[in-house]
Amino acid sequence: MARGDLLKRLFLTYLQRNDDAFRSVAMEIIAEEQKKNHTLLAGELQRILSNSAMNNSTVEPRYDLSSLPKDRERHALLVEIRKAERYFPDIILSKENQKTIEEIMEEFRRGEILRSHGINRRTKLLFCGPPGCGKTLLGEVIAAELGLPILYTRFDTIVSSYLGETSANLRKVFDYATRGTWVIFFDEFDAIGKSRDDLTEHGELKRVINSFLQLLDGFRSESLVIAATNHEHLLDTALWRRFDEILRLERPSVQDIRILLTKKLASIPHPQIKPEAIASSLKGLSHAEVERVCYDAIRLCVLRDSSEVTPELFEESMEREKQRLKIIRTADKRIKNSVKASK
Ligand SMILES: Nc1ncnc2c1ncn2[C@@H]1O[C@H](COP(=O)(O)OP(=O)(O)OP(=O)(O)O)[C@@H](O)[C@H]1O
Ligand SMILES: [Mg+2]
Repeated sequence: MARGDLLKRLFLTYLQRNDDAFRSVAMEIIAEEQKKNHTLLAGELQRILSNSAMNNSTVEPRYDLSSLPKDRERHALLVEIRKAERYFPDIILSKENQKTIEEIMEEFRRGEILRSHGINRRTKLLFCGPPGCGKTLLGEVIAAELGLPILYTRFDTIVSSYLGETSANLRKVFDYATRGTWVIFFDEFDAIGKSRDDLTEHGELKRVINSFLQLLDGFRSESLVIAATNHEHLLDTALWRRFDEILRLERPSVQDIRILLTKKLASIPHPQIKPEAIASSLKGLSHAEVERVCYDAIRLCVLRDSSEVTPELFEESMEREKQRLKIIRTADKRIKNSVKASK
C-alpha cells in the first residue's frame, strides 16, 4: 500500500476539489508502487488516471480529439471515444461467457507475466448473437472493468462507396488505435459481409477483407479488439479464424428474465408483481426488449400518478412491446423480400 501521508494528501485534494493536486499525488502513488515492483497495480492505476483525464473537461485530454480519423470524401468521423460507465453488475451473462471474459481480463492484467513465458494473451474477440442481447454492453463492461476508454467504430461508416477508400479508412482507424490502450470496438462488423454484392464487381470486397486481415494480424498493441455482429452468417470464414475467442450472446433464459425484471423494477414500488411468476410470459424477448417493457411500465406509472406499477400497467406495457415487435418483424420481412426480388 502507498504511504499513509500520501493517502491523507490524496483525500485532502478531493476535499479541496483540486484536480491538479489530485493528479500530482496520484502520480506519486503510482511511482511509489512502481518502485516496490507492484507493476500490475501501478499499470492499472495509470490507466484509470489516464481514462479519467480524458473524461474530465477540466483536465487536459490525453487523446488528441482534433485528430480523430475522418473519411476523405464525406469528412465523417470514423471513430469516437466513449466513456465506459457500466460494470459487471449491469450485465447478465451466461456462466460460460462470464468465465471466458474473466479469464481474458485476467490475461490483460497479467500480460507481462504471460509474455515472460512466451505466451500471448487473447486480444481479439468476436461477439455474435441476436440484437439487444448485450454485445455492445459487454464491450463497455470490459472497458469499464479494465479502466480503459472505448475506441468505437461502426463498420458501416468505414465502408465507403469510393473505390479504395474503405481500405484507406481501415488503415486510418488502426493507425489511430496505436496511439492508446483501449477497447477497440468494431460494431456492425457484418457490414463487410453485407457489402459483398455492391463490392464484388470490382473485386473491392476481397481487397477490403484482405486489408482488414492484414491490419488485424499486424496490429501490435496492449488494446483489446472486439468486433460485434448479429449477422454472423454473412462473415467470411477467413475472418472468423482471426479471432482468439468467439462469444455468442443469446436471448435471456426465464431465470435471466426474472433477474432482469427484479433489477429494472427496483427503482419503483411493484408489490403485486412477482418476477418469478411473469418471467416466462416474456420468454423469447431480448434483454433490451424486456428492459423496454419495464421502463415503459415505470413511465406509465409516473405519468398516470400511480403509486406503484400494477399488474395492469405491466400487462399494458408488455402488450405495447409485442405490438411494436410485430410491426418491426413485418417491416423486416418486407425489406428482405424486396431485396430478394431486386436480385
Ligand atoms: N445481457 C444483458 N444484460 C443486461 N442488460 C442488457 C443485456 N443485453 C442488453 N441489455 C440492455 O439492452 C441495451 C441494448 O443492448 P446492446 O446494445 O448491448 O445489444 P446488442 O447485442 O449490441 O444489440 P445490436 O445487435 O442491436 O447492436 C443495453 O444497453 C442494456 O441496457
Ligand atoms: Mg450493439
